[in-house]
Amino acid sequence: MEKWARFRFTPCLPMGADGKRITGSAEHIALSREAAAEGMVLLKNENGLLPLKGGQRIAVFGKAQYDYVKGGGGSGDVTVSYVRNIYDGLKIKEAEGKIEVYAGLIDFYRTEIEKQYADGKYKGLTSEPELPSELLDRAAAYTDTAVITICRFSGEGWDRKGEPGDGDFYLSAAEERMVNDVLSRFKNIIVVINAGAQTDSEWYHSNDRISSVLYAWQGGMEGGLAIADILCGDVNPSGKLADTFAKRFSDYPSSESFNESDNYVKYYEDIYVGYRYFETVSDAYDRVNYPFGFGLSYTSFDISDIRVHEDSGSIKISAAVTNTGAMSGKEVVQVYYSAPQGRLGKPALELGAFKKTDLLAPGETRRVFMEMPVEFMASYDDLGKIQHSAYMLEKGSYRFYIGNSVRNTVKADFEYIVPEDVITEQLTRRAAPSKLEKRMLSDGSFESMPSFESCTERTAPMASDASAPAEKAMLIDVFEGKLTLDEFMKQLTDDEVIGLLYGQPNTGVADTSGMGNLEKYGIPNVMTADGPAGLRIVPDRGVTTTAFPCATLLACSWDPELIYRIGVAGAKEAKENNIGIWLTPAMNIHRNPLCGRNFEYFSEDPLITGKMAAAKVRGIQSQHIAASAKHLCANNKEVDRYESDSIVSERALREIYLKGFEICVKESQPWTVMSSYNLINGTRASENYDIITGILRDEWDFKGMVTTDWVNHADETKEILAGNDIKMPFGFHDSVRESLNEGRLTRADLEVCAKRLLEMIMKL
Ligand code: BGC
Repeated sequence: MEKWARFRFTPCLPMGADGKRITGSAEHIALSREAAAEGMVLLKNENGLLPLKGGQRIAVFGKAQYDYVKGGGGSGDVTVSYVRNIYDGLKIKEAEGKIEVYAGLIDFYRTEIEKQYADGKYKGLTSEPELPSELLDRAAAYTDTAVITICRFSGEGWDRKGEPGDGDFYLSAAEERMVNDVLSRFKNIIVVINAGAQTDSEWYHSNDRISSVLYAWQGGMEGGLAIADILCGDVNPSGKLADTFAKRFSDYPSSESFNESDNYVKYYEDIYVGYRYFETVSDAYDRVNYPFGFGLSYTSFDISDIRVHEDSGSIKISAAVTNTGAMSGKEVVQVYYSAPQGRLGKPALELGAFKKTDLLAPGETRRVFMEMPVEFMASYDDLGKIQHSAYMLEKGSYRFYIGNSVRNTVKADFEYIVPEDVITEQLTRRAAPSKLEKRMLSDGSFESMPSFESCTERTAPMASDASAPAEKAMLIDVFEGKLTLDEFMKQLTDDEVIGLLYGQPNTGVADTSGMGNLEKYGIPNVMTADGPAGLRIVPDRGVTTTAFPCATLLACSWDPELIYRIGVAGAKEAKENNIGIWLTPAMNIHRNPLCGRNFEYFSEDPLITGKMAAAKVRGIQSQHIAASAKHLCANNKEVDRYESDSIVSERALREIYLKGFEICVKESQPWTVMSSYNLINGTRASENYDIITGILRDEWDFKGMVTTDWVNHADETKEILAGNDIKMPFGFHDSVRESLNEGRLTRADLEVCAKRLLEMIMKL
């Protein structure tokens, strides 16, 4: 009752200890810094150059030390009271006597970058200034150890570039000159990359002169401090890649078709996304610099005594992890399975389970336990090669590989034998493509695809036979069990019901609108706010919040418990600011490095994506704040996202692009899901009955409410029929009214959607 009162009367009470505000509190910012260091990935550390030791002198190059990018732009941005850049972090370590930093360089970069900001350049989109040679001389006279910093920014509504010299995926010409200058004058070279997604790794991977590389992602408001923590060894890195780092941009199988058209994207590579491609297709294997799951530590680990067995339909795995080095650290144990090729064809390896250890002291051993349901290894037969529209465990031997990256594993003794093909789930065809001519097979060749007809079979909802209460009832009466929601609905006029189906005016600090707002019946106007890296409140509202690291970094922590804590912290900030629906987690798949919003999404792998999202949702909803898992689905490109048709096989949809959502929904039931802007095989996501009702609700048993993405181009009547309940941030009342008058919609159609909204509101 108390929880609900908050949203009825919207008091904005400080929620921290001793009457202090918790929003942007020291406690939450400390969590942000802790998380940042957990997900940064040490890619290279030859000669043990890192951690820096004993008052080591360093010279720091690159504008990124000052122009640090905390996260991406658009709705995934967060308004903060400050950001600590890389130089800030290193200065603190200097004050602690751990290192000495050459001061002349920061003066140069600060002046140059401030000038560019004054000229209107956006943070993170400045150009690398030309380094004066006297400065280089002076820095080289000071020390033989250089840190090169590189940053990247991307945002909503645009995609990144992937051409050599572009200063985006690749280094710009000015950056290359800076790198070469540094290489020519310094003996020891460390590289720090501050980006939200993959960038070119070949320049440091193939260069023996560069000893150490920290892929620091976009680490939130104290990301610069977390970088310094790792460089100086105050934190031992434990992040592991959740995306494959290929040699060149063109090596990703989706690169060729990524920019083929503004109107569509054809997912020819099918299920062979990320490591599923590089580990499977033979000539792709050598085109990887840093494999999925890879990340170094300042200590070493031994994974031994691996035990795998099957018990009651689950594969159970355990392994002993020993810290064999000299520094405390954490290791991530990863379990990959290899399913028989059979008739459907399979990736060589697929992630089945994972577990990050606690901090292990040198010499300490800890046993970790993991499990996965046997059906998780099934593949979807969308062409009826064995059984149409069924998840199949094909006959043969299923093998297990355990290690600390997809390429550093040990094969377990145990094999799971399936004597005959088994159907694990018989489904029906949903959202199949009519325009995908071909798709990739496991040997890298392509098979041609038939053209499927749409298969929507909509069942119209039955009108409830409840009758209106004798006296006017309020929503609190439903909450208190005095009448049913069906009875409550009966007292609302058609126009009142229609009014519940779209966004409502902003109140308080919100700018993304509210839902509900029928005061007459005590239905509060519940505000929404973004986003994945923290609660986003626009600057003019005067409230700053905590910016957590970007989702790509969080995925590299491989630590769902950490993400749960971020969910709890962000939800408390939402609650304190009278926001009821936090528009996160964003969980589209990293199909290609260039998608402008990859920083908001977790990984190329659906299991990590699903587990991280599920953990965040659990954290958020433990605070009685609604999470909104977004964007359902196949929203993997930003340019022309309102009109772009994602043309993709049903198998790839189910095994890759929907799988993360499926895991999240089944594990943690988000109270809301947000449909995406794009079309899926010719039908707009929010009008897509197959996806929203057929799969999300009927197959996965999703109990919550579905909202559109903001200001989409879809038709509200079709959305209601598809099961998309709410149109945001506003709707088209008259057009829905007309559909009702003309019989395209029934009162029951409207009530179903409105009831889902009210059920959600009563959970807050
Ligand atoms: C984004 C969503 C976001 C919404 C509200 C849209 O442009 O795609 O992710 O939640 O705006 O800001």
